[in-house]
Amino acid sequence: MASLTITPSGPLKGTIAVPGDKSITHRAIILSALAEGDSTITSYCRGEDCLNTLRAFQAMGIQIEERPELLRVRGKGLWGLTEPAQPLDCGNSGTGIRLLAGVLAGQDFFTILTGDESIRRRPMGRVVKPLREMGATIAGRKGGELAPLAITGSRLRGLVYTSPVASAQVKSSLLLAGLYAEGTTRVSEPRKSRDHTERLFRYFGIPVQENASAVSIEGRPAVGWTGKPLVVPGDLSAAAFFIVGATLVPGSDVTVASVGINPTRAGLLEILSEMGANLQLINKREEAGEPVADIRVRSAGLHGVQISSERIPQTIDEFPILCVAAALAEGRTTITDAGELRMKESDRIATMTAELRKMGVAVEESDTGLKIQGLGSGQSNRLKGATCTSYGDHRVAMSMAIAGLTAEGQTTIQDTDCIETSFPGFESKLLELLTKIS
Ligand code: S3P
Repeated sequence: MASLTITPSGPLKGTIAVPGDKSITHRAIILSALAEGDSTITSYCRGEDCLNTLRAFQAMGIQIEERPELLRVRGKGLWGLTEPAQPLDCGNSGTGIRLLAGVLAGQDFFTILTGDESIRRRPMGRVVKPLREMGATIAGRKGGELAPLAITGSRLRGLVYTSPVASAQVKSSLLLAGLYAEGTTRVSEPRKSRDHTERLFRYFGIPVQENASAVSIEGRPAVGWTGKPLVVPGDLSAAAFFIVGATLVPGSDVTVASVGINPTRAGLLEILSEMGANLQLINKREEAGEPVADIRVRSAGLHGVQISSERIPQTIDEFPILCVAAALAEGRTTITDAGELRMKESDRIATMTAELRKMGVAVEESDTGLKIQGLGSGQSNRLKGATCTSYGDHRVAMSMAIAGLTAEGQTTIQDTDCIETSFPGFESKLLELLTKIS
């Protein structure tokens, strides 16, 4: 089992690129596999999560040429997939398994979707139930609540669905199933979740209607869409570790180049700014229908903040690293209405509470959030180096590595293989910006 030892050293300095956006890479692979003809996907995420989605489509008869910087996908159209001979293994990826469930529900073949031990614990009922309402035939453990899921492709009908959770995975799964359904599929959610699927539909020319509260599409389009070149923006969720690291380590000045700043994802930037961070968005532009910028970060002292329901979906993946920022802010940070954090790669309320406590932070855990008493940013207010664990959660592992940069003494993070799911090369990127890490 790999581990990472962090020895605090000097400031973080320089310009780096981060992996392509994981959410967009999954969607780009799916929609180009279902397109007619070739697409290229440049700067894609080479994390295990996306490679599992890629392999799933290869197993369903799609030719995908894999180069380090670029994928070439030979799309076979909406009805071009073929039955895989084996179960499809989505590994650690909630996005992979839930979006694939939507695509597979309307095929004319049988598939099994499975994943690692973490994915087999995470809730699948949130997609299985509405997909069944569309006419899908899905069996799974605990009545379809847990993977593996066995999907017998069926003729689907459109559905008007009000999701009880703000979840882009649920919304996207249903919109993808909606492509195969008779009539209209409309999804509304309590708060707007990330809209990469809608944006990529539009980029490929797939009609999608949107208003403040719902997204809808018409199923079984008479004409499909053609393959296109697309460039994936850098992943803000990966950049987040360096953005917080550079904010917290005195004297830092880091630019993360070409990062997606989609407003449905950019909660971290807003919250950090409100906490006092020094962030500058430079050279704003658009790639494949997504807003992109270079983000310059210089170190700054932070103060605590209150985060509640309206800001949870746009920040959902950034809470582990935001908790690290809060641990070094002046005063208390309170996070409420964030029960979804318990449904992620680990129970992130429990895991971040446990790991920050090891480093000397006073954290109170509640059912749907946490309160973190920040130590403040003065030289004497430092975290204590500790032996931490990732619980197999990539974002916990990387967050605790950044916490280690600000600690007194060494910090070791155990079980860091999981970083590969989203950010291969994290350690060397950190080295690029640092003077000493062993
Ligand atoms: C994702 C949506 C989010 C996020 C996940 C990626 C996506 O999950 O946590 O890492 O790509 O759609 P939920 O939509 O379930 O909140």
